Amino acid sequence: MFPSEALFPLTEEQREIQRTVREFAAAEITPHTAQWDRDSYFEAALVKKLGDLGLLGMLIPEQYDGLGLDALTYLLALEEMSTHDASVGVMMSVHNSLPTQMILNYGTDAQKERWLPPMARGELLGAFALSEPGSGSDASSLSAQAVHDGDDWIITGTKSWVTQGTHAGVILAMARTDTPDARRGGKGISTFIITPDLPGFNVGKKEDKLGMRASPTVALNFDEMRVPADRLLGTEGMGFIYAMQSLDHGRLGIAAQALGIATAAAEAARAYAAERRQFDQPIKDFQAVQFKLADMASRIASARALLYTTARAKDAGQTITQFGAMCKLLASETAMWTTTNAIQIFGGYGYVTEYPVERLFRDAKVTEIYEGTSEVQRIVIARELYPRS
Ligand code: CAA
Repeated sequence: MFPSEALFPLTEEQREIQRTVREFAAAEITPHTAQWDRDSYFEAALVKKLGDLGLLGMLIPEQYDGLGLDALTYLLALEEMSTHDASVGVMMSVHNSLPTQMILNYGTDAQKERWLPPMARGELLGAFALSEPGSGSDASSLSAQAVHDGDDWIITGTKSWVTQGTHAGVILAMARTDTPDARRGGKGISTFIITPDLPGFNVGKKEDKLGMRASPTVALNFDEMRVPADRLLGTEGMGFIYAMQSLDHGRLGIAAQALGIATAAAEAARAYAAERRQFDQPIKDFQAVQFKLADMASRIASARALLYTTARAKDAGQTITQFGAMCKLLASETAMWTTTNAIQIFGGYGYVTEYPVERLFRDAKVTEIYEGTSEVQRIVIARELYPRS
């Protein structure tokens, strides 16, 4: 009932992928979503199952066992998954948008051959480790330090807010490769391919979160962790640029996730408003309720139109830094607004766990925070209004 097809006709392949996600979610995910949320439980068996369906290799070329799909088709699948379970949505988003894309875009042929096929098949889950306890929005001020030891690197530091860091088999982590007496800002950061078997790797504190509770978020401690030379991604000193370019794409994924959450909340509110009677009529007959639903439909359609248009621009090879930030900003604020107003339509029933809208509200909040807060998105958008000479 909050459709996009009138504006964006989908191909048969895109509809088939949406259907696959919907049926898989109905069979394997939604019967457990409320319980996993309550227990803060990550269903590790889902990783291989998603891999078997191709959902963890959507953007990886077929030569590396992926599906080699375009960005729009991937985002449609991610949006669909997020209408059913946003925690599973973020698993798909982080894996498909960040670590696999970074290896694909900046890795050597040997790195692609080694890491991409098992990641596409769901044998290795990917994660992304940029933030630290002292550096979040100001990402280039990170302090994890990598130093040479013969051909190896020794990395010491703590990464924080790492989505699925508990179960990741491959983590793309940023660390400084400049020296404390000659800091080079963003140019002094490199990206490394980290695996949990490296000596000195430890999973730290698991966060007890408001929402997305079925997606584990942890700190990772690198204690003089020895990293072989072939784990440096691309060129030394380019790691921050790689992270920023990858986040341009990652932000489209978070926008799709936010749209999925918004759509689920809007649909729940629409259905409830038709059933719930007060003052001798269904509450959908009150204009106060109709206006909320109309605003939900309008906001969702606008955010979706921007996202799909931006995805097509990306598929056409355009740089989407500014529009990617707009997509995330608009979709995440739409998710927060829609879930807030869905609770309002449900009244007291929206505030309790009997209905899904309170979970959707909790899940929506982080889409305004991770992969760059709404304030960071506005910085990115505003900067492009005054290009550097
Ligand atoms: N594409 C290409 N290059 C880029 C770029 C982009 N999108 N953004 C920046 N750069 C380049 C700049 O051109 C610059 O290069 P030059 O020096 O050659 O000009 C260099 O990178 C440094 O850029 P800035 O000067 O803009 O860097 P800054 O320190 O001012 O930071 C910022 C800018 C936009 C605020 C950035 O720090 C940022 O995006 N912060 C938010 C970080 C973030 O999103 N973190 C989320 C972590 S992941 C997560 O949430 C967890 C999860 O698992 C889901």
